[in-house]
Amino acid sequence: MRIAMIGSGYVGLVSGACFADFGHTVVCVDKAADKIAALKDGRMPIYEPGLEALVAENVRQGRLSFETELRQAVAEADAVFIAVGTPSRRGDGFADLSYVYAAAREIAASLSGYTVIVTKSTVPVGTGDEVERIIREARPDAEIGVVSNPEFLREGAAINDFKRPDRILIGTEDGRAEEVMREIYRPLYLNAAPILVTGRRTAELSKYAANAFLATKITFINEIADLCEQVGANVQEVAHGIGLDNRIGAKFLHAGPGYGGSCFPKDTLALVKTAQDHGTPIRIVETVVSVNDQRKRAMARKVIQACDGSVRGKTIALLGLTFKPNTDDMRDAPSLSIIAGLQDAGARVRAYDPEGHAQAAPLVEKVDFAEDAYSCAEGADALVIVTEWNAFRALDLDRLNRIMAQPVLIDLRNIYRGDEAERHGFRYTGVGIAESA
Ligand SMILES: NC(=O)c1ccc[n+]([C@@H]2O[C@H](COP(=O)([O-])OP(=O)(O)OC[C@H]3O[C@@H](n4cnc5c(N)ncnc54)[C@H](O)[C@@H]3O)[C@@H](O)[C@H]2O)c1
Repeated sequence: MRIAMIGSGYVGLVSGACFADFGHTVVCVDKAADKIAALKDGRMPIYEPGLEALVAENVRQGRLSFETELRQAVAEADAVFIAVGTPSRRGDGFADLSYVYAAAREIAASLSGYTVIVTKSTVPVGTGDEVERIIREARPDAEIGVVSNPEFLREGAAINDFKRPDRILIGTEDGRAEEVMREIYRPLYLNAAPILVTGRRTAELSKYAANAFLATKITFINEIADLCEQVGANVQEVAHGIGLDNRIGAKFLHAGPGYGGSCFPKDTLALVKTAQDHGTPIRIVETVVSVNDQRKRAMARKVIQACDGSVRGKTIALLGLTFKPNTDDMRDAPSLSIIAGLQDAGARVRAYDPEGHAQAAPLVEKVDFAEDAYSCAEGADALVIVTEWNAFRALDLDRLNRIMAQPVLIDLRNIYRGDEAERHGFRYTGVGIAESA
């Protein structure tokens, strides 16, 4: 199959490289000339484990190429995937669909022969109808099918997720388009990935329902964590205890600083807006959005409390800035709220992240970036673990104790045991772990 991928960010580039690896011929298109120049040069515009080697191999085999213009790629394609961003719209929080619709207009102008247009971006219910309307209006002559194929990959594990998905969702009522989609994903039948074919609107809504459910699960355990602190309980043991119940499941029950990233915050908000617009507000998700928003800044207050109630003039060292490990993505990262909260309270902030400095630098002010975890901690009055990169899981606590001004550890990911940190002389604060528990 010949595939044009419109948008070569975290989703488009990974999807394009994986489709090429399945044996298809893929052109990844992006308007950002710097990204395409980097890719043509063999440099990755994002950090994703395994991506550089996968891209290099498929470029070498002649199956993967990069362009800033979509014209030729679309004209030659059997399927055109739209993988552009759908960020929150400024002002009302609804999904900003301007990039999707602009891409649809551009695609329409270049179509030739039967082509399936596939929305991979996360888009509100009814967007596929509008994409189809735009294209049919511009090109009444064109032979097209418009399909929803939401993407469920996770940054940091994106290649494995794409190649071994829990399921592939194809939203279409058009048999011919369905055949093309089945052909594209045929290599995955070998991995026994279930393909679910649904109506287009059902597929669109399923993606939001999945993300909202996961965000709810995280927020639920975060609120239980707060309760644990008040009643003398341990949230990790609660999570383990309930997670062993198959109806609940152990995943997404890790208490922490609140969810962030490029998907959950904007997708929960967009679902809330869609539901309100249709007169069926989803109160649970409305509450999740509001609880999570407050939680991120509350984490700064937690740090301040652990520093005897004041951080004015103190140096606070943060380990981890990205919204989760193994990505450089800083979109809506909890670290941003924590930094702002600490700086507002008069702290000097120093930070270290294994991959996130370049993306973080434009989003923060007056933060000193350190070379590694130890230079970050040197002379600091408190060390805060914000993101659970592997590099932070086995720190030399004795060494940290020696080089820090105060042995104060605030572990927002519960990667250390309190008694262990205390044995090394630290005052330890975790999330949802009462001192007596
Ligand atoms: N990042 C994730 O983990 C993830 C997972 C599942 C789904 N999604 C969804 O996938 C979509 C893309 O997300 P992302 O994280 O890859 O975004 P991104 O911002 O990393 O990438 C989007 C790319 O599209 C390009 N673009 C915009 N308009 C274009 C046009 N008309 N022609 C060519 N290129 C254009 C931009 O320059 C950018 O490089 C979003 O809807 C998101 O919700 C993301």
